[in-house]
Amino acid sequence: MMTEPQIIQKARLPHSPRPIVSIGAGGIVRDAHYPAYRKAGFTVAGLFDLDQDRAQQMATEFNVPIVYRSLAEVATQAPADAIFDVAVPASAIPTVLSQLPDGRAVLIQKPMGENLAQARTIRALCHEKKLTAAINFQLRYAPFVLAARSLIDQGVIGKVHDLEVRATVYTPWHLWSFLEKVAKPEIFYHSIHYIDLVRAFLGEPDGIYCKSVKHPKAMQMDGTRTNMIFDYGDVLRANVETNHHHEYGLRHQESYIKWEGDQGAIKVTMGLLMNYPQGEPDLFEYCLLQTGKAPEWQAVALDGSWFPDAMIGSMASVMCYLEGSSAVLPTLILSRNGSLPVGEGGVDRPKSLPIAKALKTRAERDFDHAPLWFKDYIMKELLELDHSSPGDKSINDHDNSNDQEQMNKRTGDMEDDKTENPQNEEN
Ligand SMILES: NC(=O)c1ccc[n+]([C@@H]2O[C@H](COP(=O)([O-])OP(=O)(O)OC[C@H]3O[C@@H](n4cnc5c(N)ncnc54)[C@H](O)[C@@H]3O)[C@@H](O)[C@H]2O)c1
Repeated sequence: MMTEPQIIQKARLPHSPRPIVSIGAGGIVRDAHYPAYRKAGFTVAGLFDLDQDRAQQMATEFNVPIVYRSLAEVATQAPADAIFDVAVPASAIPTVLSQLPDGRAVLIQKPMGENLAQARTIRALCHEKKLTAAINFQLRYAPFVLAARSLIDQGVIGKVHDLEVRATVYTPWHLWSFLEKVAKPEIFYHSIHYIDLVRAFLGEPDGIYCKSVKHPKAMQMDGTRTNMIFDYGDVLRANVETNHHHEYGLRHQESYIKWEGDQGAIKVTMGLLMNYPQGEPDLFEYCLLQTGKAPEWQAVALDGSWFPDAMIGSMASVMCYLEGSSAVLPTLILSRNGSLPVGEGGVDRPKSLPIAKALKTRAERDFDHAPLWFKDYIMKELLELDHSSPGDKSINDHDNSNDQEQMNKRTGDMEDDKTENPQNEEN
């Protein structure tokens, strides 16, 4: 008789929660941050938004006692132990960080910039200002992901050899017209959560093969449908596949994460993205292989969802790290004391943006061994990358006269990145 596994759906909470000060109080703060903090009993001590009317409305709606009139006021008047909760468009992150007092704690909404150059600027600012800064990748703290984590950590499904994320949904991109100016918006504003999720479970891949394409009905936007193959060698498979233009009703929409192991499997349906904007219920099911029995899936009731509950975990992770009840902060940009851990720049590798670099380096390394169809595919993607990432010096500095030297340099960069980025999971 098998003992029932323990399924944990709640994130670890701090013993002594710190006050939170919001910078940027728009849609995601209203829909998810504040409801999550209210649920967790965290205090929002004050808020600032460039749009002061909106700031006042939010303060009234959520009983926030102080509305700051400027970032200068935030810097001088916020409680000394406050965590700054930054939720502004990615392009505004450097402006905000540069005005915060040194040595403080910050949780920054994803993405960490809209390209590699912006990510490096953010990383450099965190380093210069000795900020304890983390990126708000909260999918890893969604109740269904924590539940999967607890089953996997107990060895219930055995050794994981397959992780798949698929979203076939209809996303009304026109509601976020600012994304029309962003290169690869689907990756940076959406699939970035899945990339973080895959890395949270499987660690750093050797590289990622990736292609993000436009849709004929949204030609004003760059890639809105994405395929990613994570390279973890010859046995472990991880894929992310998203199509946000499935406008054919709910019947064949899907949005799931699936883990397969040698003793069982877990499948989670993420209802949030389906049937937009109403959403659909989440679903958590797992199946254990038992000798002599046909595989059977069982459902587990969920307590909460991605929004708002996952936001409890990302904020709690910062609080736990600061009070020392957790030794690691999984999405940390910079170490606690701002010291130089390993590798260049002295900071942990930014989580959002090494993808293009990994893609290119790995593709170059494996090119000779790839099948012909794949070479064509990769070549096309590399050309696109060279044109679409003008800020990314490391992937644009290709010198035809000195290919081997360039290749060695890039391979070396990748190795540096690997040593810089410890497997820092705690969940
Ligand atoms: N699941 C998630 O993690 C998730 C979901 C949605 C949005 N987001 C991210 O959160 C961020 C904000 O998204 P949103 O949907 O709330 O956008 P929004 O446009 O509704 O709100 C952004 C707010 O930031 C304010 N703002 C802009 N620049 C500012 C500055 N320099 N100082 C202070 N306030 C400033 C604006 O006035 C606005 O109120 C984006 O980066 C987005 O990618 C994350």
